[in-house]
Parts: sequence; C-alpha cells; structure tokens
Amino acid sequence: MCGIIGYIGNKKAKPILINGLLRLEYRGYDSAGIATIEKDGIKIIKEKGRISNLASIDEINNLEGTIGIGHTRWATHGKPSAINSHPHSDNSKTFAVVHNGIIENYNKLRKFLQEKNYTFLSDTDTEVIPNLIHYYYKEGNNFLESVKLACDDLKGSFALEILCNDYPDNMIVVRQDSPLVIGRSLNENYISSDIPAILSFTKDFFFLNDREFALLSRDSIDFYDNNLNKIDKIVKSIEWNTSSAEKDGYDDFMLKEIYEQPNAIRETIGSKLSENKIFFNDFEIEKNYLENISRIYIIACGTAMNAGLATKATFEKFCKIPTEVEIASEFRYKEPLIDEHTLCIFISQSGETADTIAALKLSKAKNAKTIAVANVIGSSITREADFCIYTHAGPEIAVASTKAYTSQVVLLNILALYFAELLQKVPTKEINQVKKEILELPKKAEITLRNVAEVKNFANVVYKETDMFFLGRGLDYYTACEGSLKLKEISYIHSESYAAGELKHGPIALIENGVTVIGIITNPNLVEKTISNMQEVITRGAKTLVITNQKVNESQFFKVINIPNTNPYLSPVLSIIPLQLLAYYISKEKGLDVDKPRNLAKSVTVE
Ligand code: M6R
Repeated sequence: MCGIIGYIGNKKAKPILINGLLRLEYRGYDSAGIATIEKDGIKIIKEKGRISNLASIDEINNLEGTIGIGHTRWATHGKPSAINSHPHSDNSKTFAVVHNGIIENYNKLRKFLQEKNYTFLSDTDTEVIPNLIHYYYKEGNNFLESVKLACDDLKGSFALEILCNDYPDNMIVVRQDSPLVIGRSLNENYISSDIPAILSFTKDFFFLNDREFALLSRDSIDFYDNNLNKIDKIVKSIEWNTSSAEKDGYDDFMLKEIYEQPNAIRETIGSKLSENKIFFNDFEIEKNYLENISRIYIIACGTAMNAGLATKATFEKFCKIPTEVEIASEFRYKEPLIDEHTLCIFISQSGETADTIAALKLSKAKNAKTIAVANVIGSSITREADFCIYTHAGPEIAVASTKAYTSQVVLLNILALYFAELLQKVPTKEINQVKKEILELPKKAEITLRNVAEVKNFANVVYKETDMFFLGRGLDYYTACEGSLKLKEISYIHSESYAAGELKHGPIALIENGVTVIGIITNPNLVEKTISNMQEVITRGAKTLVITNQKVNESQFFKVINIPNTNPYLSPVLSIIPLQLLAYYISKEKGLDVDKPRNLAKSVTVE
C-alpha cells in the first residue's frame, strides 16, 4: 500500500520520479506527490487523484533538481486530498518525507510535538515524522542521527525517504516492516517500493533489513545498523527482464499476466521437477523432521490463501499430515497451537503482506519451522522465514492476482510431493502419476486459454448483472472462492462462492429468475452431485455456466466451457483460467480500470 520512489544522480529527477510512480501506481492511487532539491531548496508538488493529475501541473515542469523523492498514496489516515498527500515537511521546511506504512503512536507523538509548538496541516500519521526529525535536528544532531532518533520513537510500519535542505547531496532511507529496495547504478542510485518500477535502470539491488539506514549520495551508499554502526551489504543481481514489467502490446497487465501463465508455470516447475526426481536446493527439511511433525499450517491472505486451500488436500493425501489453511489476519491473533512439531508455510506473491509477515514472526517465536513461498525476490517474507522457495511468475503488476496464483498452486503441489517422496507413505507410483501431470500443465494451460472467445461472449451476456454465484465441491469449491474473489475485485459485481452441497442450507433462497450461477465440475467422483445442485438452481430460473473437464450433458446448461483433463489434485490450476478471463472481460465490458480496481492496492503492507 502506497508506493515510494527516489532518485539521486546527475539526471533531472522529475521525469524519473513520475515514470517510477506510474509503475508503482498499482500500490495506491488516490493522490501523489514529489519533492526535489532545487537551487533554492526543497520544492514539493502534490495533488489529489492519479499520477496523471500530478504530472499535468504546469509548475512541475520547472523542477530541475537531480535528487528527489515521490509517493503514490493509498489513504489510511486522512482522506484523499492534496494536503494529506506526501511528501510532508516539517514546520521549518527543512525536511521532506515520503512514507509507506502506518505510525501507530502518531497521536501521542503529535501531542508531544504540539506541546513543543509544532503545528500540523494534515490529518495524516506521517506528518509527525518530518517534525520529529526536525525536533532532534535542532537539538544539534546531524541529519542521520536525527532520523535515527526519530525512528526510535516510531511504533508501527514504515519505509521512509528523507531529504534535508542542509544536505542537498544526500538522501536517507530506512524501513521497518514496509518494503523498500535500493537500485545501484553508475553515479546514480534509485529507491523504490518494488523491483519492477526501477528495473529499466538497474539490475543490481540492495535490500534493507528492519531498522537499517542507508545514506545515499550520487556515487556511494553507506549502510548503518540501528546503532548507526556502519555495516556491509551485498548487492544482489535480479534476473527479471524489463519487458516482463511492461504491457507488451496487451491492453492491460491483467490480460498479459493471464496469458503468461503457461510460461509462469513452466518456469516455476523449472528444474525442481523431472519425471524421476524433485529437487529443492538449499532446503534442509529431512525425513526424520517430517515424520515428527503433527501438523502443517498454510497461512496467507486473499488469493494466496486460496492457493493454500487448493493444495491442502495434496499434503493430506500424499504426506498423511493434517494440514490447516488459515487467514493470516485471523491466525496472528488467535493464539494458535504451534510448537517445534509444527511446520508453517506462508504464501505471498509480494512477500510484503503485513498480516502474513506478522503470522510468520509469531510462528517463529513459537518454535515452528517456517517456509516462505514468495514471488518477489528479496522481499521481507523471504528474509524472515527459515527457508524460502520461489514461484517464478515474474513481476505481477495487475492488482488482481492471476499468474502468481497458478504458480503458487503448482509449487505447493511440488512441495507436497517432495515431502511425500521423503515420507513414503503412499506408493511411489501414485506420486509419479501426479508429477507426470504437473509437467503437462504448461501445455494444458495454453489449451485452456483457447477458450477465450467463448468466455468473452458469456461476459457480454452477463456483465450488467448485480449478483453472481459460484459453486463447486472439493477442490472445485476453492476454485469457486478464487473465481468469486476475482469477479468482485475487478468488476464490482457482488458474488458469493458456496460448497455446492451447502446451497440448500440457506443460499438457495437467493436464486431467482435470470441470476447467474457458475459451476466448476472437475472431480470425477463428484460430477453427479454437483450437477444435481446445478439442476436445483436451473429449476429456480438460474442462468448457468459450467467449467468442466468431465463428460456432462451440455444441453441442460446455458453454457459449458470444456477444459483439459488432469489429475484431480491439479485441476485448480486449469479451472481458474476461464474464471480469470470472465472477470477480466466483464470488467472491460463495464469500462472499468482492470489493473487498478477501486479501493485496492497490490501489496497490503498495513494490517
Ligand atoms: O502479495 P500477497 O500474495 O501476500 O497478497 C495477498 C492478497 O492481498 C492478494 O492475493 C489479493 O487478494 C489479490 N489482489 C487478489 O487478486
């Protein structure tokens, strides 16, 4: 939530900052601003609304400075307005600050500063930061010391970029539980909330741990720990290519990312799986440990949590270990029963989701072993967990997650089979059958994408509706949950997902003439059961769409979309694709902003 960008070098900062903000806009888009250091000091320009509003302000073209910071906001404290936008400065206009995160004790700090005669213009939590820095600065501390002392007072999460009028050739950045990366190039340095936003400028990145400080100049970066002792950091080279962070001729990132799924799955399978063997390099989980664990928890939020639900059955069936899937924001507050015999797996595309990170820290504190399943290299979760395995989906820019989801489902299945091979509780032949099918998934995802015209036609029929229902049994129910989430997220159509057998216990009261009900039917053992439930809604006038890889009598439904058959444990990878396309085309028909749906942000870095 919120995106921050920074530049220090010899080029004009303004175009670089605006360009970076446009790439970060998916993180929040209710207001934006930049600050640069000009010949006569810090200049701040900010505006309500999208980056395009900011970029169209005449005055912004006068900025010549070669050092600057920028921010695109997802409002938490204070409504979207120019005054609440970042950057914020202190009363004396010595400092300019952009902030991603939440300062939990800002009321207390504000009161403290007001007692010292500081005044506040905005309703934000952020405005205390520049004033607090100023408070320590005027006591005689230097720039870095003042920032450090201010950070000592802050409770909550923050990624900060700070400029000071008296240090026109420096910038300071620091983070605590919010994302921030530093990109190094020749005689210039870049700061960003994520890697793709600055990937066209550099492939060399530094990652800060919590409460580490970086003092940047044009040709150097000095790193400090929380006691301001100098520390060394190793630069990490990122292999993502620049075009994966561009639209490449597609109308929207979401559509591009839907079409990237065959490749994302292929890359995720990578060298981890061959027909004979599964490899997880640097992964120290052994048979003896697995034999002694009593439970696996899979913990995540939103779509990532749905990926956990879609794979829980593989762990239970092939490893014979009870596996629970938990919503991170619930798990972190419910005193879960965890000990050294619990394995906790955390799934996160961004690796920055605040609740998931907090749940991970809690699990570690209770002595569980932790594995992060992440897409963004070097993200916070990958540094917190005992082990990390990556999906190789490439940058996912659209707020609605698509290729990250299918890659997560594939990777978790591979992980479950890896454990299964160590444990040997089911015949190897059964494990090998699933492995073989996993290798077929990229090709089958390509075939599934060929249904696009049929999905588009159906979207055209139903896009004006206000409610839709998704039904399924077993793993198909979890696909229904993910399909429903996708639809509501980008089309703003109210939708519900139900385990098909639950329909008669209440929800069927909502079914009336013309309402759309989507059934997912992939489990050969449950085909007839789900068809019966679909019949029940047809009898009550529902318009039905069925996504299936089974033989069904098509004439009874309004529309049937056939997808390739696969092992039942893998069907969620394919059955979700038509539902992603459906949500996409409904949103397009409605003329909505597919990539940046209202009220949402890509990375939920606040709880
Ligand atoms: O980055 P994460 O995978 O941790 O994000 C979790 C959710 O916020 C995310 O999956 C969200 O539900 C998606 N926007 C749904 O499409």
